[in-house]
Amino acid sequence: MIQLKDVRHSYQRPGGETLTVLDGVDLTIEKGDLVSIVGPSGGGKTTLLNIIGCLLRPTSGEVIIDGKPVQSMTEKELAHTRNLKIGFIFQGSHLIPTLTVLENIMLPVWLGKGVQGRGHAVRARELAERFGLSDRLNHLPHEISLGQRRRVAIARALINGPTILLADEPTNDLDPPRAKQIGDILFSLNQEGLTLLLVTHRWDLAKQAKRCYETKDGKLQPAELSHL
Ligand SMILES: Nc1ncnc2c1ncn2[C@@H]1O[C@H](COP(=O)(O)OP(=O)(O)O)[C@@H](O)[C@H]1O
Ligand SMILES: [Mg+2]
Repeated sequence: MIQLKDVRHSYQRPGGETLTVLDGVDLTIEKGDLVSIVGPSGGGKTTLLNIIGCLLRPTSGEVIIDGKPVQSMTEKELAHTRNLKIGFIFQGSHLIPTLTVLENIMLPVWLGKGVQGRGHAVRARELAERFGLSDRLNHLPHEISLGQRRRVAIARALINGPTILLADEPTNDLDPPRAKQIGDILFSLNQEGLTLLLVTHRWDLAKQAKRCYETKDGKLQPAELSHL
């Protein structure tokens, strides 16, 4: 379970300007939930995911993951949470251009200490197979399509067996059939028990969530149903 209590975040700009991006966000996500967030570019969606993914410390407020306040976690606990508990599909995929598909999928295994094992190589191939990438394992990211790259990013996010999946605009720049394919993958993962937080511009995907929020003035509010 993820809880956010009065989370605020400001960035300091050169010249001393303060840009407040999140201004009191409260959110509870239960185990197995499917929650979506929509909102304009620059609305703080990526900032929010980075905070939930323990990649960014909020300026103030509390983030609690499975009962444990992130603020009180040791570096070791933080690394464990980031690497094993949470899978992150970054905006724009963020694959390493010099690593093959299989190596990109395995990357979180190599980065996490003490989680090595042959089981992961088998799991990487199983995930690749599931997402239709088996014949692309030795290709570099620039040699595969955008939709395939997104599927590599999903496989990479799943390789360490997380219970929470954070997806930051995973269908951006994809045509509707490819976007639907990615949506179907994510929703089936959720049906298998994975907690899913989906940031998306696509209302057809967002409205499939049990709860849908939009960012507004640094806060989260239930999304306008009239858009759906
Ligand atoms: N590291 C940073 N330093 C300064 N400003 C940032 C930084 N990251 C994001 N911002 C600004 O914060 C705002 C929210 O960004 P972001 O969280 O990426 O929004 P979204 O994902 O909804 O487009 C934007 O105006 C962006 O320019
Ligand atoms: Mg973003």
